[in-house]
Amino acid sequence: MSFMSNAGNITRGFMNIACTEKNRDLIVNINGRLVHRDEAGISPFDSAVQGGDAVWEGLRLYNGRIFKLHEHLDRLERSARALSFVEVPSREKVIDEIKRTLAGNNMRDGVHIRLTLTRGLKVTSGMDPRLNQSRPTLIVLAEHKAPVYVKSGLILITSKIRRPPPEILDARIHHANLLNSILAKIEANNAGADDALMLDTRGFVAETNATHAFIVRKGELATPRVVACPPGITRATVIEICAVEKIRCVEMELSVVDVYGADEMFCTGTMGELAGVIKVDDHIIADGKVGRMTKRLSDLYAQRTATEGVQVVEL
Ligand SMILES: Cc1ncc(COP(=O)(O)O)c(C=O)c1O
Repeated sequence: MSFMSNAGNITRGFMNIACTEKNRDLIVNINGRLVHRDEAGISPFDSAVQGGDAVWEGLRLYNGRIFKLHEHLDRLERSARALSFVEVPSREKVIDEIKRTLAGNNMRDGVHIRLTLTRGLKVTSGMDPRLNQSRPTLIVLAEHKAPVYVKSGLILITSKIRRPPPEILDARIHHANLLNSILAKIEANNAGADDALMLDTRGFVAETNATHAFIVRKGELATPRVVACPPGITRATVIEICAVEKIRCVEMELSVVDVYGADEMFCTGTMGELAGVIKVDDHIIADGKVGRMTKRLSDLYAQRTATEGVQVVEL
């Protein structure tokens, strides 16, 4: 059956399955109401259900602090403004709901928070935003979840699906309409890979279906410009770390040829932090092991997550 084959490949690259039991009795926050995960639901009239009309952020909680919280909320608010959402909840309100959700679940560390803001309820089904007569829906879903990727390195394939350019759907809007990514992920699953490398419509590397891409050549880093990928928070942190460490990092057009010939490759994202890549299509990257620069930058990233961030849980 096709739905069985979707589930079949879930273990490659993922370390999260063990968290399932801890998450069995999660409390989810929907518009300020704290409810058990089995009772949580949103209306069929909600804009997310009607048209994937929502924006979202993935945040990570490290020892009571959310790393880069304000950078994530900046992106959420910019995305909501770009989509003309009205009555967007204030930042204080969003942070307060995150705190209530974490307190309700007694959470402090090793937590991933998926924050979703939809355009809200419609008075009747349809895509027209004028059918929205009430304020946006805010969903705070916090789960026990360790960084999702295996430390031994990822295997990628290059997807046939392309990332759209800004004139089609601007990735600066961090929207929850993930079908473009999901189609690429299905391709990766079917190929037995962890994720898919995605190109833009010109044929240059955009990112993967879920993370940003970096390559290392002769001790220097290169990453695609923000053309067909969102402005990533982890990506920006790696660029910041490079500036401090005096490691050259350029934003430029990269093709799969650059990737195949790289000394190292790694991906970045809040969910999985930095994850080394050891194979892309039929090409082993360098010696097929996670590289030294990737490990060094992962350690520097870990030092930051251990010491920075906004306190949201009383210790
Ligand atoms: C398409 C896409 N690429 C990359 C990322 C990683 O971005 P960040 O480092 O901000 O988590 C995300 C995360 O939300 C994403 O949705």
